[in-house]
Amino acid sequence: MSRLGLANLSLALLLLILGAAHLIIPSDPTQRNYQFFPNMVDALAHEAQAPVPMLAEGRRIDLRPPEGSIAKGHLPSHYGPTPEDALRAGRELHNPVASDDAGALKRGAFLFSTFCTPCHGPGMHGDGLVTKRGVPPPPSLFLPHALDLADGQIWHIISYGQGNMAPYAAQVEREDRWKLVAYIRQAQASTSREAQAPAQNPFGTRAQTTPQTHEQAGTVEESGS
Ligand code: HEC
Repeated sequence: MSRLGLANLSLALLLLILGAAHLIIPSDPTQRNYQFFPNMVDALAHEAQAPVPMLAEGRRIDLRPPEGSIAKGHLPSHYGPTPEDALRAGRELHNPVASDDAGALKRGAFLFSTFCTPCHGPGMHGDGLVTKRGVPPPPSLFLPHALDLADGQIWHIISYGQGNMAPYAAQVEREDRWKLVAYIRQAQASTSREAQAPAQNPFGTRAQTTPQTHEQAGTVEESGS
């Protein structure tokens, strides 16, 4: 047979095989075709914590997070709402917010005017609006007691409350509570500076009772930021 004849014969054979395959293999699109390695299609379903048949006896794929893991955005706090823990927080915690972080102080001023002024008053003197309607007034934050509080203690008071003051952890984020601490500290520092050096105070005697920072807080509030 010539080379051409051989080629034609093999082509005809191929055509025959393809034709036969076409007849044999079902062409119903709703039916599954023959699968050579269907294991990946029908994967074995396992419960996350159930024993796995191909693993050694008793071994599990344990997907629980390791002991001591902390979920992102959910930092634990190892303090309780007690005065003892407030003191401990004062010893152990330090404000992560820098005292000269302008953005943080602005945020602290905004938070204070939102959450704290109703009781503590805009100037932190404990003369907020609700105190004029029968709510027992909080002490001024410029009294020696408040000045002597450690940063961590103030953070604990905002987080867990103290006496008549409710906790603010649900309303004010952890980082924001530190910004409040920074804002209070700045107000306290500027008042004591003014008290020591009244001559350098551009606001005259008035600013001795109203911390200068509060004037800034008012601007923040109006700009709505
Ligand atoms: C519902 C009124 C009220 C609100 C709102 C409030 N406080 Fe107080 N706060 C108090 C009272 C009352 C006390 C005194 C509690 C006590 O020791 O019995 C206090 C105490 C404090 C103290 C401790 C003062 C000291 O010398 O012991 C700090 C600091 C403080 N508050 C900060 C804040 C901050 C910051 C906010 C806003 C997030 C805030 N408070 C909101 C009522 C309030």
